[in-house]
Amino acid sequence: MLASEYDKYSDIFKMTRPIKIAPSVLSADFSRLGQEVEALEKAGADLIHFDVMDGHYVPNITIGPQVIKSLRSFTRLKFDVHLMIQPVNPFLEAFVKAGADSLTVHIDAGPHLHRSLAHIRHLGVKAGVALNPATSLEDIRYVLDDLDLVLVMSVNPGFGGQSFIPQTCDKILALKKMIGGRPIQIEVDGGVSPENAGDLKRAGADILVAGTSVFKTRDYKKNIEALR
Ligand code: DX5
Ligand code: ZN
Repeated sequence: MLASEYDKYSDIFKMTRPIKIAPSVLSADFSRLGQEVEALEKAGADLIHFDVMDGHYVPNITIGPQVIKSLRSFTRLKFDVHLMIQPVNPFLEAFVKAGADSLTVHIDAGPHLHRSLAHIRHLGVKAGVALNPATSLEDIRYVLDDLDLVLVMSVNPGFGGQSFIPQTCDKILALKKMIGGRPIQIEVDGGVSPENAGDLKRAGADILVAGTSVFKTRDYKKNIEALR
């Protein structure tokens, strides 16, 4: 397809495709995570994003499989688990058993990305790769057929509430072209707000992760709708 044709069709495609909102529980009230997950489902969240951090791959520590397992019965929404841990392979099965529906690994969290993605699919859940702001798209060119999801980090991983990195939009545009017609979802994570959500959708994002923007007030429904 000629680039000009692609742009024409992609504009039509972009504006009709509904964006999915994945609140990150990183910004939730950790003393009442079950009720928070229930409230997110009621507020219209499309899936729940869990930021797993080990204090080694990123300078922060959050949750493990046990917390995810304890929340599984609170909602039917899909659990989108973002693994900011290294090494990652030894823990994949535990997160699947805990109830993860997709596992996203950071491209540099282990020596053999292709093997990690194959393992995740073998475990029966969707396989995702997370690209840090400095990571090149070239690093995933040869695993595109082993992926269900690409998580484009719009902040450096480790903390919620950081400032959105604007170069992310161009990266998503280029990723969309690289993916072509493959059934791969593009997810964006970090500093997502109503101010940049429109640009991200037009660039080709399918799923927006948001912590601060969703939990900034108790009206989660209003905050989620503001992102759509
Ligand atoms: C960073 C985390 C955060 C979180 C969302 O490692 O992945 O990006 O999900 O953070 P906010 O929406 O608060 O920037
Ligand atoms: Zn995340």
